[in-house]
Amino acid sequence: MDSTAISAAAASESEPIKPVRASEEFLIFGAPLICEEEEREILNSLRTGWLGTGPKVAQLEREFREYKGAAHAVAVNSCTAALHLSMLAADIGPGDEVMTTALTFCATVNTIIHAGAKPVLVDVDPTTLNIDPEEVAAKITSRTKAIVPVHFAGRPCDMDALVTIAQRHGLKIIEDCAHAVETTYKGRPAGTFGSFGCFSFYATKNMTTGEGGMILTADEKDADRVKILALHGMSKDAWQRFSDAGYKHYYVVECGYKYNMMDIQAALGIHQLRRIQKNWERRREIWAIYQSEFASLPLTVPAPPDEGTRHAYHLYTVLIDPRRTNLTRDQFIADMTTENIGVGVHYQSIPVHPYYQERFGWRPEDYPHSLRIGEQTVSLPLSPKLTERDVADVIRAVRKVLHH
Ligand SMILES: Cc1ncc(COP(=O)(O)O)c(C=O)c1O
Repeated sequence: MDSTAISAAAASESEPIKPVRASEEFLIFGAPLICEEEEREILNSLRTGWLGTGPKVAQLEREFREYKGAAHAVAVNSCTAALHLSMLAADIGPGDEVMTTALTFCATVNTIIHAGAKPVLVDVDPTTLNIDPEEVAAKITSRTKAIVPVHFAGRPCDMDALVTIAQRHGLKIIEDCAHAVETTYKGRPAGTFGSFGCFSFYATKNMTTGEGGMILTADEKDADRVKILALHGMSKDAWQRFSDAGYKHYYVVECGYKYNMMDIQAALGIHQLRRIQKNWERRREIWAIYQSEFASLPLTVPAPPDEGTRHAYHLYTVLIDPRRTNLTRDQFIADMTTENIGVGVHYQSIPVHPYYQERFGWRPEDYPHSLRIGEQTVSLPLSPKLTERDVADVIRAVRKVLHH
């Protein structure tokens, strides 16, 4: 051992090992960037008394529709609600099969079950982490009614292939755009390819209303149907209860749900949407810094966006392969937490969950890419709220945890 090594060893014995970030400053994963405009807008709702569905919801619907270039937008209280109502409005029900990816949030699958249909899982392409169109085509049966692609992390699915398959077999497409507000594919916005596009405005998403969601559709009848279903099944005119036009009777025309968005939520969303491009640019910048800083480390970084597409940069996911790092993903997460850096997992594969195994007999090993990715994936902080120091802390923590 040379003298430098001895002194380094002595120092590490006498000094406590400090985390990369001071302990009082835990970096919360997915913290939203909320500004004064949102505060003022919410205060305005509180002062005017418009708390529930009202003019701000109508404004958010209009502005989101314009941003996405869609004919109709209906605001709801989550993407889960958006997916559920889209399934119902697409007449998906008992006896139908709906195909989706094995690497997604449970809500994508649960809403297929809520509609009474049977979910059929498809493995992902290991590079894009998106549903594999070839396997979709191979799994179509006479019962298949729809495909639910998820634009994972904000990277668009291969929509040319999926639309071709859907047209050939008369299937509906319901896009799960929870990660994909800014996503485009060959110039066309995600959420406008199929019958419905479903968005999430959950607290960690690219724009937030705390909890919230939006449904896009090109068809006026479909828009009317999801509106009715989102408000107890009351006829469309019932929404006028939320205007200042005076009392109006309403009539229940089917058994609906309580899925409407509140003005207090829309107050956040209006300003989040105005800042969408700026926040996207900041996340793209952080993404690029991570890509270059992590290129030489023993982990797998995300594939670059495909040409002709716009990636929404919702998640920055790396893969921790214990054969390369001597570290499991879960140990990496524990060590990052010790360094005061919050991380996420998107996602363990759907078939590892006991409910689905018991109900559908799914075996995780039948979806090998999703299984492996689900065991190795970690999402690092990518919020536009991150300062330069935060980004540097994440990088230092990753290097320290990987001993680089
Ligand atoms: C891919 C995907 N689908 C659906 C959802 C459900 O969104 P929400 O929480 O708005 O219901 C999420 C939320 O995390 C998601 O990531």
